[in-house]
Amino acid sequence: MIKKYSLSAIETIALGENFSKNLKPGDVVIFEGVLGGGKTTFIKGILEGLKIRCKVLSPSFTLVRNYTNNKLHVYHIDLYRLNDEEIFDFGIEDFLYGKNSITLIEWGEKIEHCLSRYLKVVFSILGEEKRQIEFSSKGYRENKFLLG
Ligand SMILES: Nc1ncnc2c1ncn2[C@@H]1O[C@H](COP(=O)(O)OP(=O)(O)OP(=O)(O)O)[C@@H](O)[C@H]1O
Ligand SMILES: [Mg+2]
Repeated sequence: MIKKYSLSAIETIALGENFSKNLKPGDVVIFEGVLGGGKTTFIKGILEGLKIRCKVLSPSFTLVRNYTNNKLHVYHIDLYRLNDEEIFDFGIEDFLYGKNSITLIEWGEKIEHCLSRYLKVVFSILGEEKRQIEFSSKGYRENKFLLG
């Protein structure tokens, strides 16, 4: 597990951008931690790092947003408002482990137990702008991240 600290939203975007270098099609990343921790902010950085130009909005009301540059799809999912049954009904498995897609799931703790392989990023608020960000992974053979 790797632990990093951020002192501003801009720094969190930069961490997300750097983290995107770890990602390959087929990866699923789950984001955990408190409201306002910085999950969506970090995801903005990932999309910048992947060179997918878009406006990243929280998908709370749409459940899933699909960002693409035609070669790669990035599915951005937010499970905050969903209970287990609703997650199942929405068919989340259709958005996981695609060979041309990367899946980013906010409030991933709600589905973590169903996933065999994922990267995990956990946010804690340490101060008004100070965040702790912890990186870990499950189910990978190789040593994933290394760039937090
Ligand atoms: N170091 C920091 N990193 C990220 N965001 C920060 C930081 N310091 C302050 N902020 C602010 O905290 C908020 C983080 O919001 P963001 O939407 O990224 O959180 P979230 O974890 O996605 O929340 P939610 O659980 O509601 O989806 C933003 O308003 C951002 O400007
Ligand atoms: Mg969010």
